[in-house]
Amino acid sequence: MRKPVCKVSDIIFVRFLLTDLEIQKKYLSHFGMFLAHETEDSIFFRGTGKSPYCYVATKSHVNRYVGSAYSVNSYSDLEALAEDQAVPIIQNQEPGGGYKVTIIDPDEIEIEVYHGMNLVEPIQSEEIILNSGNQKLRKNKLQRLGRAADEWQLNDGKWIYELSSKVKRLGHTAINVKNAEQSIEWYANKLGFLVSDNMIGPDGNESIGAFMRCDQGDLPVDHHTLNNVQFLSPDAIQNVYGHAGYEVTGSVDDLMAGHFHLKTIDQYKHEWGIGRHLLGSQMYDYWRDPYGFTHEHWTDGDLLDASIPPLDSQARDIIMAQYGPEVPSSFGQTMPVEELDRYRQNVTGLSDIIKELEIQQLPDQSSEK
Ligand SMILES: [Fe+2]
Repeated sequence: MRKPVCKVSDIIFVRFLLTDLEIQKKYLSHFGMFLAHETEDSIFFRGTGKSPYCYVATKSHVNRYVGSAYSVNSYSDLEALAEDQAVPIIQNQEPGGGYKVTIIDPDEIEIEVYHGMNLVEPIQSEEIILNSGNQKLRKNKLQRLGRAADEWQLNDGKWIYELSSKVKRLGHTAINVKNAEQSIEWYANKLGFLVSDNMIGPDGNESIGAFMRCDQGDLPVDHHTLNNVQFLSPDAIQNVYGHAGYEVTGSVDDLMAGHFHLKTIDQYKHEWGIGRHLLGSQMYDYWRDPYGFTHEHWTDGDLLDASIPPLDSQARDIIMAQYGPEVPSSFGQTMPVEELDRYRQNVTGLSDIIKELEIQQLPDQSSEK
């Protein structure tokens, strides 16, 4: 394998253009992020972790995902990338400082690579200790989340659960690409990504994308920092943004709190969850923002070091969770929220394609009677 130009160490933030920052500020607060900086035309939201922010949006006349930002461990990585792509190293003028190189991926996604960004003090929260059937770790301490039952408050005669999730950090993005092989190669060659899972399409042969992780040698990293997906359905909307996945600070309870908060305030569209993925193994819960961009809360994902070889994963493993509700056909697609219901009713998703294929392969039960 060719030596990559550089090796990114993690994802830092996603960048958007939006027509109204105020309604997005409300959404992100309900989603469980914290406003870290605000300028005349931009908002920077952080999690409880060390990154100065994990979500950036700038006011515009369009609503668009611009791209993702990654970090590298050394300035020489930036130099190598700048030379390879014939672009300058720029001093970052936005909060956090440091230096960056901006390049464009094969699907026109803007990729910012940073070194030397100032980290921030984490926001502390109490660790939740779980007692399982086999292991009792919490003794003489009552389990109380937030303000316990007082998190339920009446609003216009409706019960609202006020405790939101607490996002810690951005963990990955999923992107829809024109050509899976081209995208996988680009991220491997330019940014050092390794394939964790190669996604095999429903025909059983061709790759329709990959789950890719950062190469940090012996250091275990998230199973995926990037998921490149080549869409199969001709009906599918070809929008490059699939979703962004944010790790919550606590575990299952943090994820569940966020679910019931977003559900009871009843202002946003739910996409998919709660369930546990197979590839990456994380528990997930996906919600649409007011513009139809999907954001995921996740917890308890797999960690792999660079020694683990890629796996080939069949289509049903990608879309069928270990448990959880059936995936809607809109999953992975970006569209205005008003169009979601109609889309889900009328468009075939990967789950339907796999269902159809498996029905075809079943023995004819009528002839067995
Ligand atoms: Fe995800």
